[in-house]
Amino acid sequence: MILGVNIDHIAVLREARKSGLPNLIDALSLVERGGGEQITIHLREDRRHIIDSDLEDIVKFSVLPVNLELSINNEIIDLASKIRPHRATIVPEKRNEVTTEGGLNLKDNFWAIKSKIDILKANDIEVSLFIDPNVESINLSRALNVDWVELHTGTFSNIFAMLNSNLSRTAYYIKDLENLSRKELEQKLDRASMDLEESAILGNSLELKVAGGHGLNYQNIKLFNKIAKNSHIREVNIGQSIVARSIFVGLENAVREMRNLVI
Ligand code: PXP
Repeated sequence: MILGVNIDHIAVLREARKSGLPNLIDALSLVERGGGEQITIHLREDRRHIIDSDLEDIVKFSVLPVNLELSINNEIIDLASKIRPHRATIVPEKRNEVTTEGGLNLKDNFWAIKSKIDILKANDIEVSLFIDPNVESINLSRALNVDWVELHTGTFSNIFAMLNSNLSRTAYYIKDLENLSRKELEQKLDRASMDLEESAILGNSLELKVAGGHGLNYQNIKLFNKIAKNSHIREVNIGQSIVARSIFVGLENAVREMRNLVI
C-alpha cells in the first residue's frame, strides 16, 4: 500500500507556541527518507494546526504528492483550487471535534459536495471522499464520479484499542464500547473489519481507488493489512501515531518503522 503520512500534529506542536518550530518543511525530506510516499495535511477551517502558508510551502517544496484534506467551505475550496495539491480529500468538519469523527454524509449533502468536486476537478486536482465503510456511501461516491474514496477506520481502530486495553483510546467513540464484554468487542471488531473489506471490494468493482485512514497505528496495522490484502485497499494515511512515535525515535525512523509494517 502507499503510505501517506499526515503531518498535522507536527503543526500542532508549532501552533502551541507559534514559534515557527518545528519547521514543517524539514519534515518533508524526513518523511521521504523514511519511505513515506505521500504527504497528507488537513487545512481546517479554524486553522488549528496547518495554516494557509503551510499549504503553499508544502505544495511548493514537497517532492512527494500532497493530499489535502478539506471541508467544502468556499474559502478553503478556492484556496485549494489556487494552490493545486495533487489530491483533495473532502472530509466532514465540525468546529468542536477533536478530530474528524465520521465520514461524509453524502446523501444529505450530495449537490453541495458535487459542486465542489466539479471545481476541484476543473483545476486538475484528483478528488477523494472520506466516507464510512458502507454500501450507500460507496454507491453515492460512484455517482459523484470521484477518483478515490478513503474509508474511515476509526470504528475499527477504537474497537481494537478497547480490546488491547494498554493502547491509547479515542474518547468520543469509546463511550459506546465501554460496557461490552470481550466477546462482544471481538464480534464488533469482526463486523468493523468486514465492513471495511466489503466496502473496499464494492468500491474496487465500481472502479474507485480505495484508501483507509484514521486511528491506524503500529499495533492495529497488522490486522488492517489482512483486510487490505483481501480487498485491495491501495493506500493508508496515518498521522498521529507516527508523529507521536517520532518524539522518541525521530521522524525518519518512525516513518520507516511504519513503512516496514504496512504491506
Ligand atoms: N485520513 C483522514 C481523512 C483524516 O481526517 C485523518 C485525520 O486527520 C487521517 C487520515 C489520519 O488519522 P490519524 O492521525 O488518526 O492517523
